[in-house]
Amino acid sequence: MSTTQKNITVDARPKRQATAKNIAAMKGTTPIVCLTAYITPMAARLDKHCDLLLVGDSVGMVLYGMDSTLGVDLEMMIRHGRAVCRGAEQALVVIDLPFGTYEESKEQAFRNAARALSETGAGAVKLEGGREMAETVRFLSTRGIPVLGHVGLMPQSVHAHGGYAARGRSVDEWQPIIDDAIAIAEAGAFAVVLEGVAEPLARKVTEAVPCPVIGIGASNACDGQILVTEDMLGLFAINPKFVKRFAEIGRDIEAAIGGYAEEVRSRAFPAEEHTYKMRGSNS
Ligand code: KIV
Repeated sequence: MSTTQKNITVDARPKRQATAKNIAAMKGTTPIVCLTAYITPMAARLDKHCDLLLVGDSVGMVLYGMDSTLGVDLEMMIRHGRAVCRGAEQALVVIDLPFGTYEESKEQAFRNAARALSETGAGAVKLEGGREMAETVRFLSTRGIPVLGHVGLMPQSVHAHGGYAARGRSVDEWQPIIDDAIAIAEAGAFAVVLEGVAEPLARKVTEAVPCPVIGIGASNACDGQILVTEDMLGLFAINPKFVKRFAEIGRDIEAAIGGYAEEVRSRAFPAEEHTYKMRGSNS
């Protein structure tokens, strides 16, 4: 329902943006739908379909051509976080804390997480790490900063791990990952991203922790799923096994640009209908 005041149409329904609490309460109910977003028009399109939009540090690779997420800084995250918040009305917006902005101390983490929230309008932050980050997660979440954890394959540790291979493909790798997820959940994370692990481990982690587990490359056993939007739209060249391409927009863009180039060269574009006439002219 809407009312009109002084020629301005006002939507009478209050806009309800999801909170970290709402997402936490979805454990064991409906699967949680999450995607990454970096810019306003994409966020506006994703918003009505998603429970959570992550301004991921994958922005460095997807939009800036970096070869890992390690070069992303807090200023970039804040700039893209603001852009996403302008487009999102319903989904919870979560800002990834970039490498080097939270690992040194819980105070450093608080300072930078507080900036990420207060300068963007987002509702939570994400950080990578297991047991070693539990104290930091507790420090933030007891001081008003909802935290989304991230365990399993952690892209910010690419050098320490020696690559992006899936984890937990042999049973002896399971316990540390289960312990990491439990530690982060018990420290107060409202949900945990579980990346790049074999299916039976994902099931065990999802059963073991009280908060929602959001999988990426972690099977259907999780409480929800997240993908990098550009991956699932076919806009990013790398196509890992866990990504299903729901569209081939990269191919469509190339076809459209090819058409434009051809029409400019043949002078078919701009046509009459794209051309301004003098005022008073009939045609
Ligand atoms: O940065 C990112 O996009 C992420 C998701 C892939 C979970 O961390």
